Amino acid sequence: MGRVVVAGSINMDVVALAERHPGIGETVVGREINYFPGGKGANQAVAAAKLGAATALVGRVGTDAFGRELRAFLGAQDVDLSFVRDTPEAHSGTAVITLAAADNTIVVVPGANGLVGPADVAAVPLAKRDIAVSQFEIPLPAVKALFERARTAGAMTILNPAPVRPFDRALLESVDVLVLNETELGLLAGVGLRDRDDQSRLLDAMRSLRMDADKIVCVTLGKRGALALVQGEALIIAGRAVTAVDTTGAGDCFVGALAAQLAAGNAIRDALQFANIAASICVQRMGAAPSMPTAAEVKAVITR
Ligand code: RIB
Repeated sequence: MGRVVVAGSINMDVVALAERHPGIGETVVGREINYFPGGKGANQAVAAAKLGAATALVGRVGTDAFGRELRAFLGAQDVDLSFVRDTPEAHSGTAVITLAAADNTIVVVPGANGLVGPADVAAVPLAKRDIAVSQFEIPLPAVKALFERARTAGAMTILNPAPVRPFDRALLESVDVLVLNETELGLLAGVGLRDRDDQSRLLDAMRSLRMDADKIVCVTLGKRGALALVQGEALIIAGRAVTAVDTTGAGDCFVGALAAQLAAGNAIRDALQFANIAASICVQRMGAAPSMPTAAEVKAVITR
Protein backbone atom coordinates (compact mmCIF):
# COMPACT_ATOMS: atom_id res chain seq x y z
CA MET A 1 0.00 0.00 0.00
CA GLY A 2 1.44 3.38 -1.02
CA ARG A 3 1.21 6.74 0.67
CA VAL A 4 -0.48 9.87 -0.63
CA VAL A 5 1.64 13.03 -0.73
CA VAL A 6 -0.28 16.23 -1.42
CA ALA A 7 1.53 19.50 -2.11
CA GLY A 8 -0.99 22.30 -2.00
CA SER A 9 -2.84 25.14 -0.41
CA ILE A 10 -4.07 25.35 3.16
CA ASN A 11 -6.78 27.97 3.72
CA MET A 12 -9.24 29.13 6.27
CA ASP A 13 -12.57 29.43 4.44
CA VAL A 14 -14.66 32.35 5.68
CA VAL A 15 -18.10 31.36 4.47
CA ALA A 16 -21.07 33.75 4.33
CA LEU A 17 -24.42 32.06 3.84
CA ALA A 18 -26.99 34.13 1.94
CA GLU A 19 -30.28 33.65 0.10
CA ARG A 20 -28.61 34.66 -3.14
CA HIS A 21 -25.31 35.96 -4.49
CA PRO A 22 -24.97 39.75 -4.67
CA GLY A 23 -24.58 41.41 -8.06
CA ILE A 24 -21.70 43.82 -8.78
CA GLY A 25 -22.07 46.87 -6.53
CA GLU A 26 -24.88 45.25 -4.56
CA THR A 27 -25.03 44.34 -0.86
CA VAL A 28 -27.16 41.45 0.34
CA VAL A 29 -27.81 40.54 3.95
CA GLY A 30 -26.35 37.16 4.91
CA ARG A 31 -27.80 34.59 7.30
CA GLU A 32 -24.72 33.05 8.89
CA ILE A 33 -20.91 33.19 8.92
CA ASN A 34 -18.72 30.11 9.34
CA TYR A 35 -15.00 29.44 9.49
CA PHE A 36 -14.16 26.11 7.87
CA PRO A 37 -10.72 24.62 7.22
CA GLY A 38 -10.19 24.44 3.45
CA GLY A 39 -7.76 25.01 0.63
CA LYS A 40 -7.56 22.58 -2.24
CA GLY A 41 -4.41 20.87 -0.97
CA ALA A 42 -5.68 20.49 2.58
CA ASN A 43 -9.09 19.29 1.39
CA GLN A 44 -7.53 16.63 -0.82
CA ALA A 45 -5.20 15.50 1.96
CA VAL A 46 -8.06 15.26 4.47
CA ALA A 47 -10.16 13.26 2.00
CA ALA A 48 -7.32 10.79 1.38
CA ALA A 49 -6.51 10.46 5.09
CA LYS A 50 -10.14 9.95 6.16
CA LEU A 51 -10.49 7.30 3.48
CA GLY A 52 -7.65 5.32 5.01
CA ALA A 53 -4.49 6.36 3.14
CA ALA A 54 -1.33 7.33 5.00
CA THR A 55 -1.22 10.96 3.86
CA ALA A 56 1.36 13.73 4.09
CA LEU A 57 0.68 17.36 3.23
CA VAL A 58 3.35 19.75 1.95
CA GLY A 59 2.52 23.44 2.34
CA ARG A 60 2.70 26.53 4.48
CA VAL A 61 0.59 28.39 7.02
CA GLY A 62 1.13 31.75 8.69
CA THR A 63 2.05 32.09 12.36
CA ASP A 64 -1.42 33.49 13.07
CA ALA A 65 -4.58 32.18 14.72
CA PHE A 66 -5.87 30.69 11.44
CA GLY A 67 -2.57 28.85 11.00
CA ARG A 68 -2.79 27.35 14.47
CA GLU A 69 -6.42 26.31 13.97
CA LEU A 70 -5.66 24.77 10.58
CA ARG A 71 -2.75 22.78 12.00
CA ALA A 72 -4.88 21.50 14.88
CA PHE A 73 -7.70 20.47 12.55
CA LEU A 74 -5.45 18.74 10.00
CA GLY A 75 -3.49 16.91 12.68
CA ALA A 76 -6.75 15.60 14.14
CA GLN A 77 -7.62 14.12 10.72
CA ASP A 78 -4.39 12.08 10.77
CA VAL A 79 -2.72 14.16 8.07
CA ASP A 80 1.08 14.08 8.49
CA LEU A 81 2.10 17.74 8.88
CA SER A 82 5.87 17.18 9.06
CA PHE A 83 6.24 19.07 5.77
CA VAL A 84 3.96 22.01 6.59
CA ARG A 85 6.07 25.06 7.45
CA ASP A 86 5.09 28.00 9.62
CA THR A 87 5.73 31.19 7.65
CA PRO A 88 5.99 34.37 9.76
CA GLU A 89 6.29 36.65 6.72
CA ALA A 90 2.78 35.93 5.40
CA HIS A 91 -0.71 35.36 6.75
CA SER A 92 -2.40 31.99 6.42
CA GLY A 93 -4.22 31.43 3.14
CA THR A 94 -7.77 32.72 3.35
CA ALA A 95 -10.74 32.12 1.07
CA VAL A 96 -13.77 34.40 1.23
CA ILE A 97 -16.73 32.33 0.10
CA THR A 98 -20.33 33.28 -0.55
CA LEU A 99 -22.66 30.31 -0.42
CA ALA A 100 -26.20 30.61 -1.78
CA ALA A 101 -28.48 27.79 -2.95
CA ALA A 102 -25.60 25.28 -2.48
CA ASP A 103 -23.43 27.10 -5.05
CA ASN A 104 -20.43 29.20 -4.20
CA THR A 105 -18.27 32.04 -5.37
CA ILE A 106 -14.74 32.14 -3.97
CA VAL A 107 -12.04 34.79 -3.65
CA VAL A 108 -8.85 33.16 -2.44
CA VAL A 109 -5.97 35.20 -1.00
CA PRO A 110 -2.90 32.89 -1.06
CA GLY A 111 -0.78 34.42 1.76
CA ALA A 112 1.64 31.71 2.93
CA ASN A 113 0.56 29.36 0.12
CA GLY A 114 2.17 31.78 -2.32
CA LEU A 115 5.57 31.11 -0.75
CA VAL A 116 5.58 27.34 -1.27
CA GLY A 117 8.53 26.52 -3.52
CA PRO A 118 10.60 23.58 -4.79
CA ALA A 119 12.57 23.49 -1.52
CA ASP A 120 9.34 22.68 0.36
CA VAL A 121 8.82 19.47 -1.60
CA ALA A 122 12.49 18.45 -1.59
CA ALA A 123 12.49 16.57 1.72
CA VAL A 124 9.27 14.56 1.51
CA PRO A 125 10.01 10.87 0.89
CA LEU A 126 8.42 9.34 -2.23
CA ALA A 127 8.46 5.68 -3.24
CA LYS A 128 7.19 3.53 -6.08
CA ARG A 129 3.64 2.88 -4.88
CA ASP A 130 3.06 6.43 -3.62
CA ILE A 131 0.69 8.90 -5.23
CA ALA A 132 1.83 12.53 -5.57
CA VAL A 133 -1.01 15.04 -5.86
CA SER A 134 -1.06 18.75 -6.56
CA GLN A 135 -3.20 21.64 -7.80
CA PHE A 136 -2.69 25.23 -8.92
CA GLU A 137 -3.20 27.06 -5.61
CA ILE A 138 0.54 27.02 -4.91
CA PRO A 139 3.30 28.35 -7.20
CA LEU A 140 3.82 26.09 -10.20
CA PRO A 141 7.60 25.54 -9.64
CA ALA A 142 6.65 23.61 -6.48
CA VAL A 143 4.16 21.46 -8.43
CA LYS A 144 6.77 20.77 -11.10
CA ALA A 145 9.42 19.87 -8.52
CA LEU A 146 7.06 17.45 -6.73
CA PHE A 147 6.14 15.69 -9.96
CA GLU A 148 9.76 15.46 -11.08
CA ARG A 149 10.65 13.84 -7.77
CA ALA A 150 7.67 11.49 -8.12
CA ARG A 151 8.82 10.53 -11.62
CA THR A 152 12.28 9.70 -10.35
CA ALA A 153 10.83 7.59 -7.55
CA GLY A 154 8.41 5.80 -9.90
CA ALA A 155 5.39 7.19 -8.01
CA MET A 156 2.13 8.04 -9.78
CA THR A 157 1.10 11.70 -10.14
CA ILE A 158 -2.34 13.33 -10.11
CA LEU A 159 -2.76 16.94 -11.22
CA ASN A 160 -5.90 18.92 -10.50
CA PRO A 161 -5.25 22.17 -12.43
CA ALA A 162 -7.52 24.31 -10.29
CA PRO A 163 -7.96 27.20 -10.23
CA VAL A 164 -6.96 26.99 -13.87
CA ARG A 165 -4.36 29.44 -15.19
CA PRO A 166 -1.87 29.53 -18.03
CA PHE A 167 0.97 27.05 -17.53
CA ASP A 168 3.78 25.41 -19.45
CA ARG A 169 2.14 22.35 -21.02
CA ALA A 170 5.41 20.46 -20.58
CA LEU A 171 4.16 19.91 -17.02
CA LEU A 172 1.59 17.45 -18.41
CA GLU A 173 4.42 15.11 -19.41
CA SER A 174 4.96 14.35 -15.73
CA VAL A 175 1.24 13.84 -15.02
CA ASP A 176 -0.32 10.36 -14.97
CA VAL A 177 -3.86 11.36 -14.06
CA LEU A 178 -5.41 14.74 -14.87
CA VAL A 179 -8.60 15.54 -12.97
CA LEU A 180 -10.49 18.72 -13.81
CA ASN A 181 -14.00 20.08 -14.11
CA GLU A 182 -15.68 21.07 -17.34
CA THR A 183 -14.84 24.77 -16.98
CA GLU A 184 -11.17 23.95 -16.51
CA LEU A 185 -11.27 21.47 -19.39
CA GLY A 186 -12.84 24.11 -21.64
CA LEU A 187 -10.13 26.62 -20.79
CA LEU A 188 -7.31 24.12 -21.28
CA ALA A 189 -8.74 22.80 -24.53
CA GLY A 190 -9.59 26.29 -25.77
CA VAL A 191 -13.28 25.49 -26.32
CA GLY A 192 -16.35 26.85 -24.55
CA LEU A 193 -17.94 24.06 -22.50
CA ARG A 194 -21.17 24.29 -20.57
CA ASP A 195 -22.53 21.97 -17.90
CA ARG A 196 -25.06 20.53 -20.36
CA ASP A 197 -22.55 19.55 -23.02
CA ASP A 198 -22.85 15.97 -24.17
CA GLN A 199 -20.20 13.31 -23.77
CA SER A 200 -18.90 13.44 -27.32
CA ARG A 201 -18.13 17.15 -27.00
CA LEU A 202 -16.40 16.56 -23.67
CA LEU A 203 -14.43 13.63 -25.08
CA ASP A 204 -13.32 15.72 -28.06
CA ALA A 205 -12.05 18.37 -25.65
CA MET A 206 -10.30 15.73 -23.51
CA ARG A 207 -8.62 14.19 -26.58
CA SER A 208 -7.51 17.61 -27.80
CA LEU A 209 -5.25 17.89 -24.72
CA ARG A 210 -3.09 15.26 -26.46
CA MET A 211 -2.07 13.48 -23.28
CA ASP A 212 -0.13 10.25 -23.97
CA ALA A 213 -2.31 7.17 -24.49
CA ASP A 214 -1.25 5.63 -21.16
CA LYS A 215 -2.40 8.73 -19.22
CA ILE A 216 -5.83 9.20 -17.69
CA VAL A 217 -7.98 12.30 -18.12
CA CYS A 218 -11.04 12.59 -15.89
CA VAL A 219 -13.58 15.40 -16.03
CA THR A 220 -15.82 15.77 -12.98
CA LEU A 221 -19.35 16.82 -13.86
CA GLY A 222 -20.98 17.57 -10.51
CA LYS A 223 -24.37 15.90 -10.22
CA ARG A 224 -23.81 14.29 -13.65
CA GLY A 225 -20.94 12.19 -12.25
CA ALA A 226 -17.66 11.98 -14.15
CA LEU A 227 -16.25 11.00 -17.50
CA ALA A 228 -12.79 9.52 -17.92
CA LEU A 229 -10.57 8.68 -20.82
CA VAL A 230 -8.55 5.59 -19.93
CA GLN A 231 -6.20 4.22 -22.58
CA GLY A 232 -8.35 5.92 -25.19
CA GLU A 233 -11.58 4.33 -23.86
CA ALA A 234 -14.39 6.44 -22.42
CA LEU A 235 -15.46 5.47 -18.91
CA ILE A 236 -18.77 6.88 -17.72
CA ILE A 237 -19.28 7.28 -13.99
CA ALA A 238 -22.97 7.95 -13.37
CA GLY A 239 -24.00 10.80 -11.08
CA ARG A 240 -25.86 10.15 -7.83
CA ALA A 241 -29.10 11.90 -6.97
CA VAL A 242 -28.46 13.60 -3.63
CA THR A 243 -29.53 16.88 -2.07
CA ALA A 244 -26.52 19.19 -2.11
CA VAL A 245 -26.18 21.81 0.62
CA ASP A 246 -22.62 22.94 -0.15
CA THR A 247 -20.57 21.90 -3.16
CA THR A 248 -17.36 23.56 -1.86
CA GLY A 249 -14.55 20.99 -1.87
CA ALA A 250 -16.48 18.30 -3.77
CA GLY A 251 -13.88 18.23 -6.55
CA ASP A 252 -11.14 18.04 -3.92
CA CYS A 253 -12.93 15.14 -2.27
CA PHE A 254 -12.99 13.35 -5.62
CA VAL A 255 -9.24 13.89 -6.13
CA GLY A 256 -8.29 12.86 -2.57
CA ALA A 257 -10.49 9.77 -2.72
CA LEU A 258 -9.06 8.78 -6.10
CA ALA A 259 -5.54 9.14 -4.74
CA ALA A 260 -6.36 7.02 -1.68
CA GLN A 261 -7.88 4.31 -3.86
CA LEU A 262 -4.93 4.23 -6.25
CA ALA A 263 -2.50 4.16 -3.32
CA ALA A 264 -4.37 1.09 -2.07
CA GLY A 265 -3.77 -0.56 -5.46
CA ASN A 266 -7.37 -0.50 -6.67
CA ALA A 267 -8.24 -0.54 -10.37
CA ILE A 268 -8.98 2.80 -11.99
CA ARG A 269 -12.66 2.05 -12.73
CA ASP A 270 -13.34 1.07 -9.09
CA ALA A 271 -11.30 4.02 -7.85
CA LEU A 272 -13.32 6.48 -9.95
CA GLN A 273 -16.64 4.98 -8.81
CA PHE A 274 -15.51 5.23 -5.20
CA ALA A 275 -14.36 8.84 -5.64
CA ASN A 276 -17.69 9.76 -7.22
CA ILE A 277 -19.60 8.35 -4.23
CA ALA A 278 -17.26 10.10 -1.79
CA ALA A 279 -17.89 13.45 -3.52
CA SER A 280 -21.65 12.87 -3.46
CA ILE A 281 -21.46 12.47 0.33
CA CYS A 282 -19.27 15.58 0.69
CA VAL A 283 -21.84 17.88 -0.99
CA GLN A 284 -24.49 16.91 1.54
CA ARG A 285 -22.56 18.65 4.33
CA MET A 286 -21.41 22.18 5.04
CA GLY A 287 -17.79 23.21 4.67
CA ALA A 288 -14.88 21.91 2.60
CA ALA A 289 -12.38 19.89 4.66
CA PRO A 290 -14.85 19.03 7.46
CA SER A 291 -17.28 17.48 4.95
CA MET A 292 -14.93 14.74 3.70
CA PRO A 293 -16.42 11.27 4.29
CA THR A 294 -14.88 8.23 5.97
CA ALA A 295 -14.29 4.92 4.18
CA ALA A 296 -17.14 3.38 6.20
CA GLU A 297 -19.56 6.03 4.92
CA VAL A 298 -18.61 5.38 1.30
CA LYS A 299 -18.77 1.60 1.77
CA ALA A 300 -22.24 1.97 3.31
CA VAL A 301 -23.42 3.57 0.06
CA ILE A 302 -21.73 0.89 -2.08
CA THR A 303 -23.37 -1.98 -0.16
CA ARG A 304 -26.78 -0.30 0.12
O1 RIB B 1 -11.88 23.73 -3.79
C1 RIB B 1 -12.44 24.39 -2.68
C2 RIB B 1 -11.44 25.26 -2.02
O2 RIB B 1 -11.06 26.30 -2.90
C3 RIB B 1 -11.92 25.95 -0.78
O3 RIB B 1 -11.76 25.19 0.38
C4 RIB B 1 -11.17 27.26 -0.78
O4 RIB B 1 -10.21 27.33 0.23
C5 RIB B 1 -10.52 27.36 -2.15
O5 RIB B 1 -9.20 27.12 -2.08
